[in-house]
Amino acid sequence: MPETPPQISVSLWRGGEAGRYETYSVPRRASQTVLDVVTYVQRHLDPTLSYRFACRVGMCGSCAMTVNGRPRWTCRTLVAKVASAGRLEIGPLENLPVIKDLTTDMQPFFEKWQQAKGAFAPSRTRADAMARIRPESPARIAADAAIECINCGVCYAACDTVRWNSEYLGPAALNRAWTLVNDERDGANTARLAAVAASGGCHSCHSHQSCQEHCPLSLNPTAAIAGLKRRTAAAYLNGELKI
Ligand code: FES
Repeated sequence: MPETPPQISVSLWRGGEAGRYETYSVPRRASQTVLDVVTYVQRHLDPTLSYRFACRVGMCGSCAMTVNGRPRWTCRTLVAKVASAGRLEIGPLENLPVIKDLTTDMQPFFEKWQQAKGAFAPSRTRADAMARIRPESPARIAADAAIECINCGVCYAACDTVRWNSEYLGPAALNRAWTLVNDERDGANTARLAAVAASGGCHSCHSHQSCQEHCPLSLNPTAAIAGLKRRTAAAYLNGELKI
């Protein structure tokens, strides 16, 4: 069995949109993650390197980067699984403006989340009785299937439609809208359906399924978007939405 090389060659994106890759040598460690490699460079080789992370355990969604050409959550990605011929190339997420090095500006991503009316709008007040939601109801099952999104931006970076159409709301925002459309406690669904049916909404999706393929939590935004397409079409037919 070949010995594990003691160092790994890592190319990191440096600068803004017009930057370049610079190469560093980083010691290999057992169970080393891509985020460990980036952190080693920042702590031992170049403290000016900019990148983003928080939880290191796959909860916060802040550590996503492009690793050997593919968007990934770096804190849960083992170097041993993705290093190609002992090399790593790590860049910022695609489809988002680069602030510096590996840090992208997430503002457009979250603005689209807002455009899709991704905030819960309660239909009851504190004075009302608590809603009783049956876990086995079809709507709750549909909401639960999509609800674990951590907004890492991996699906947005992987989406060809986002790349071609800057108006497109993207898989994460539409996936969030789908969870709320199926939340019986929410009171803003007519406005939400109008928002996701508008230009750049769910009907812009080409169903390439890159979001589903890349989602680190194995969610299926393509299925959520297909649900929105059906739900908005029904809303037009029953007069809830007007053309
Ligand atoms: Fe929080 Fe990776 S650092 S998900």
